[in-house]
Amino acid sequence: MSKRVVLGVSASVAAYKAADLASQLVKSGVEVFPVMTADAARFVQPATFRALTHHPCPIDVFEEPFPGEIAHIWLARHCDLFAIVPASMNVLARLANGLADDMLTAAALACTAPILLAPGMNTGMWDNPATQANLARLRDYGYYFIEPTTGRLACRTEGVGRMADVPTILAAIHEMLARQDSWRGVRVLVTAGPTREPLDPVRFLSNRSSGKMGYALAEAARARGAAVTLVSGPTALPRPGGLEFVPVETAAQMRDAVLSRAAEQDILIAAAAVADYAPVEVAEQKIKKEAPPAPNSGGAGQEEVGGLTLVLTETDDILAELGRRKRPGQTLIGFAAETEHLLDHARRKLESKNLDWVVANDVTQPGAGFDGDTNIVTLLGARGEEISLPLLTKREAAERILDAVTATPGEQSPGRATS
Ligand code: CTP
Repeated sequence: MSKRVVLGVSASVAAYKAADLASQLVKSGVEVFPVMTADAARFVQPATFRALTHHPCPIDVFEEPFPGEIAHIWLARHCDLFAIVPASMNVLARLANGLADDMLTAAALACTAPILLAPGMNTGMWDNPATQANLARLRDYGYYFIEPTTGRLACRTEGVGRMADVPTILAAIHEMLARQDSWRGVRVLVTAGPTREPLDPVRFLSNRSSGKMGYALAEAARARGAAVTLVSGPTALPRPGGLEFVPVETAAQMRDAVLSRAAEQDILIAAAAVADYAPVEVAEQKIKKEAPPAPNSGGAGQEEVGGLTLVLTETDDILAELGRRKRPGQTLIGFAAETEHLLDHARRKLESKNLDWVVANDVTQPGAGFDGDTNIVTLLGARGEEISLPLLTKREAAERILDAVTATPGEQSPGRATS
């Protein structure tokens, strides 16, 4: 069966390019269902899209182009990919805020298939903090983007905001469609985020992990059709849909959640920043400055000179345990966040934890590490592979990591794991 793409066209001068895109998609065998915003229809007529795609091109959410169906729900359910080309400032704002007030936004907000946005707008509108905040929110919600380029804009200025060209968008759509079924039937478990190790009822030890890398990996695997389990420490990220989400707090809880599900997984990705140490004892009551527990009691103690001494114990290394239990056909991917001797430390982890891949990143480099939206990683494989990736968004890095795992010949490949 041919792939189905809903093509949402919103109001930007670049709307005319969407007609070319629709035509090329149809020629390449994709079934295209167009929808437009009312303002987009002032740039290009819906009749153009109807003629090019042989499907209705609704605008208003109450239109009934598919007899007996609620159109926006039907469109949302019957597509493999939803592409919004161009995506105007207004559409970005409405999607980021859940405003389903026309056919395009109602269908997109009801859609669980991947949504690809190709923004196109004036530089001032692109740079506007409201747009930038909406983009950040949409990225967190799992939307995919084709970034606008710098160039001459319709408003006779030069700057960022020019929608990517049609061949680039076409290639991205085909790549996403091709990936979609590539991990169908593969079971993937991802750990993400930090853990919290409680000291007392109000305090804990934790780290700076945002969870973004792990969430990006889980979402990328889900978009390839895998059955995904995401075991996540506490993060500020929205909970992704379409996967099993297992929230945990401590390293011990993460260990139990992972090990109880490990045997049935084909691919395990340990992206969590698991605490290496936890307090030996958790105080039942809040630790007070005035009445400290006795030093060396095994928990927290306050010394005569002032200050607090914590007694910590090493947590179980979940990844190392997965390495010991690894069965044939299972692929194990770990992370190595380092501040020095990156590749040496990473290679040692690859070997000592019996991994198939280790994703090494030097967290001291600008643009790499725990907190931000980007990362710079090198992939080391058990067969001697070494793949250095440039500065990428965590989402792009996730795709490249999954590509590397897919490309590995032999029993590590997802195709083999399901056969
Ligand atoms: N990891 C884990 N369980 C732990 C600690 C780490 O599963 N208790 C996993 C992380 O998810 C990551 C990898 O191990 O994939 C590397 O963790 P890291 O803490 O950087 O390495 P360690 O082996 O703990 O070594 P060190 O702290 O000395 O760098």
